[in-house]
Amino acid sequence: MALAEFLQQLDDLAAAADHAFAAAGDPETLEAARVEFLGAKQGRLKSVQKQLGRVPKEDKRAAGMRFNEVKAAVENAFQDRAQQLQSQGPQQAAGPQFDPTLPGTPLSLGRLHPITQTIEELKDIMGRLGFSVAEGPEIEDERHNFEALNIPREHPARDPLDNFYIHGGSGFPPLLLRSQTSTVQIRVMENTPPPVRIISLGRVYRPDTADATHYPMFHQMEGLLVDRHVTLADLKSVLRLFAASYLGGDVHIRFRPSFFPFTEPSVEVDFHWNDQWIEFGGAGMVDPNVLRAVGYDPEQVVGFAFGLGVERLCMRRHGVTDIREFYKNDVRFLHQF
Ligand code: DAH
Repeated sequence: MALAEFLQQLDDLAAAADHAFAAAGDPETLEAARVEFLGAKQGRLKSVQKQLGRVPKEDKRAAGMRFNEVKAAVENAFQDRAQQLQSQGPQQAAGPQFDPTLPGTPLSLGRLHPITQTIEELKDIMGRLGFSVAEGPEIEDERHNFEALNIPREHPARDPLDNFYIHGGSGFPPLLLRSQTSTVQIRVMENTPPPVRIISLGRVYRPDTADATHYPMFHQMEGLLVDRHVTLADLKSVLRLFAASYLGGDVHIRFRPSFFPFTEPSVEVDFHWNDQWIEFGGAGMVDPNVLRAVGYDPEQVVGFAFGLGVERLCMRRHGVTDIREFYKNDVRFLHQF
């Protein structure tokens, strides 16, 4: 093989190697190019080297020197490109991996429990009618749950079978999970001189068997207004306004005579729903005994009070037919609110 031909082969190979290294956009492709040109066994440089034996003797020295130069140049070109790719980092080297045109993964947001949402809305409506929010404990003593509410010791409402009593330990007064939010009336009046205009929303507990309309824990909205000249008509106006705001202007409400120890007279409050009258709670004019128990003078002030079931209001508003749905924590249900 003539020297010129051998040198031409070397030049061609150097050019091809440069081109292949430059075109390699990621480390894997570059490595393949390295094996192709610099591979120890079957690399193209190796096969050119084998031709060296066929170059005429007097040209061997020149051919060998040129071969070494080209080999070093190809090796350098490979090293340079390898460093370049490394400093560019994998993403750029591998081309764009993030496709900004693809639709994103939707985030699913949590939301407030329907009863919490209802409570917030009831506070809002009653707030506009001038009622501020009061709170009381869920674990109560007998004075606040019964005695001050005119429910004497022998009253059936105090039956241990109808209440969740808690053993306070011997020598301690008995405690119970409050069975009604009327407890908060007492706590507020004990601490505030009249006039009073409050609502209180919270959990109450009764050992009822769960069914579509009962649950051993549920929520009530208690309302209390005490002032100088308050009548049953005021009570009805407030409840009607409230019902129209929460359930819609076409709602019908009805009072039925009833009895509660802490009101006189007492009424049952019904709302019309699905061609039926449904009881939503009780109400009445605060019994003078209750006013006396908190140190108010029944000759000076009168008041009305009411207690409504929050779950029932929410069920009526959203067409929920089973109270137990609220407490299963099934997201397919909760997600709809
Ligand atoms: N506490 C009664 C209950 O749980 C509801 C109630 C009735 C509350 C009359 C009142 C009221 O404030 O005046 O059944």
